[in-house]
Amino acid sequence: MPQANLSGVCDYCDCRELAPIKELSDEHERISTLAAELRRRVESGQATGATLASLQAALGPHLAKEEAGLFAELARRPGFEQYLAELLGDHEQARATLLAFPPAAPAPAPAVLGALDDLARHIETEEYDLFPASRMILDDAGWHDVQVAHRRADAHAAAGSSGGRGAGRRADATGTAGS
Ligand SMILES: [Fe+2]
Ligand SMILES: [Fe+2]
Repeated sequence: MPQANLSGVCDYCDCRELAPIKELSDEHERISTLAAELRRRVESGQATGATLASLQAALGPHLAKEEAGLFAELARRPGFEQYLAELLGDHEQARATLLAFPPAAPAPAPAVLGALDDLARHIETEEYDLFPASRMILDDAGWHDVQVAHRRADAHAAAGSSGGRGAGRRADATGTAGS
């Protein structure tokens, strides 16, 4: 984030204790666990379909939640245009790759592994730069708005998933990422 060089601060400050940040960080942990499992399966030639479907189910709503909450709140303040554009670019890249790969017939292994590398870098930027900096920039009213946006995003995701429930279970668990 251009306003402050706060890399690494998240290890020492209490930004993860702020409810909306903790919520996003908890989602990052879930996404990262699934991403690691997907990487392990791709690298060992194991079936990837069910793991990819689970990652997609976690990642899609997470991206939407960040955009409706923290990103939107920061966008109301001047000076974050380029920073947010880069983060949104990462999201669009994830939508064009990880969220677009069909679980029953995943993309070739290099494409999947490259997308996982990009996702890991994005999450690291959010954890160690965006979140600590946001802790210093947003006031109580701003965090309230983020929290409201999170609950709306959850409701929207729940409504959206009701029609597609079972998509993960329908994923072809025999799908593997070819090389
Ligand atoms: Fe993000
Ligand atoms: Fe994120």
